[in-house]
Amino acid sequence: MEKRRLGRSGLVVSEICMGTMTFGSQLEEKASFEVMDYAYDHGVDFFDTAEIYPVPPKAEWVHRTETIVGKWLKGKDRDSILLATKVVGPGHGWFVPPVRKGKTALDRHHIRTAIEGSLCRLQTDYVDLYQTHWPDHDFGYEETLEVLTELVEEGKVRVIGSSNETEWGTMKANQTAKELGLARYQTIQNNFSINNRRFEDALADICRREGISLLPYSPIAGGVLSGKYNDGQLPEGARFTDYLKGDGERQKIMAKRFVNEKSLATTAALMQLAESHGMDVVTLAVAWSKQHDFVASTIIGANSIEQLKPSLAAADLKLSDEILQAIDAISADYPYPMG
Ligand SMILES: NC(=O)c1ccc[n+]([C@@H]2O[C@H](COP(=O)([O-])OP(=O)(O)OC[C@H]3O[C@@H](n4cnc5c(N)ncnc54)[C@H](OP(=O)(O)O)[C@@H]3O)[C@@H](O)[C@H]2O)c1
Repeated sequence: MEKRRLGRSGLVVSEICMGTMTFGSQLEEKASFEVMDYAYDHGVDFFDTAEIYPVPPKAEWVHRTETIVGKWLKGKDRDSILLATKVVGPGHGWFVPPVRKGKTALDRHHIRTAIEGSLCRLQTDYVDLYQTHWPDHDFGYEETLEVLTELVEEGKVRVIGSSNETEWGTMKANQTAKELGLARYQTIQNNFSINNRRFEDALADICRREGISLLPYSPIAGGVLSGKYNDGQLPEGARFTDYLKGDGERQKIMAKRFVNEKSLATTAALMQLAESHGMDVVTLAVAWSKQHDFVASTIIGANSIEQLKPSLAAADLKLSDEILQAIDAISADYPYPMG
């Protein structure tokens, strides 16, 4: 599998990253190990987790994902794997289970507490990429970057990254790091798929100009782009079915953002396009994600080896200009870059 550099750092990772967000919720430990093993055996060396996983959050599940990943990692050659995790930060009301008492922030206390917890659960001395899961704009970047720099100097973290960050935050953090001589965010982990092209508005340009890599998450829109929601009924056991049928208000809102008339129409058109080129639509969506110059590694999710296969089939695949233009036409009314 092709390897790509994270920002201007020394880290080079596989172009597909295995996300672990549902390990410990939709998947038990054994099935999670099998999915991670399959990915690893097929060239994936980059794994993404977070202190708040699994999703959806439940108080009794908290930290289960890092614990599972840590157990799995123990049986592997640590040097052959690049491990990414995240400190939660404020969360802005999204999916934040009680990881620590009180309101979490990106201050020294919370980051220090978080990294020690993650290292312990992951059973390792260091994480390769440490990310701030949500920005803490009211708090600013000085203390956050100062403590993250300390972690780099102490060898607990190799490289740092942001997530769910804005244009303003990305530039502000970069400028703060430069002015104070601190470690810089080499990556940004945001939502990016054919069904959500907002990243192309301005963040893509910032990434190119500032040498920051996007690690896109939800490349098949959490399962929607597989076409499984296009049958006129909600698929059994699938993420957004559970969200829509559950009692979490935030989850219902999120599900409707992903599964709606417009997204299903785009998906139907993409399914036709993929079929006409003899390709699985999941493979098409993941390949499209990888094919952006500002993307380093596309973070996929899978709840079984069967689900994983079409995503991994996108490795080393390059879509033709004809297919790319057809995708642009299908998603033309999505947020699109200016000019
Ligand atoms: N930084 C953040 O805030 C953030 C947010 C979200 C995700 N992430 C990261 O990105 C990773 C991937 O996110 P994601 O899970 O949303 O990615 P995704 O690849 O868009 O969606 C994966 C989900 O789609 C379904 N699926 C996958 N392959 C399929 C197939 N071949 N056929 C039918 N359904 C299929 C599965 O859900 P069902 O079986 O339930 O349908 C699977 O869990 C996460 O694990 C996490 O590491 C980060």
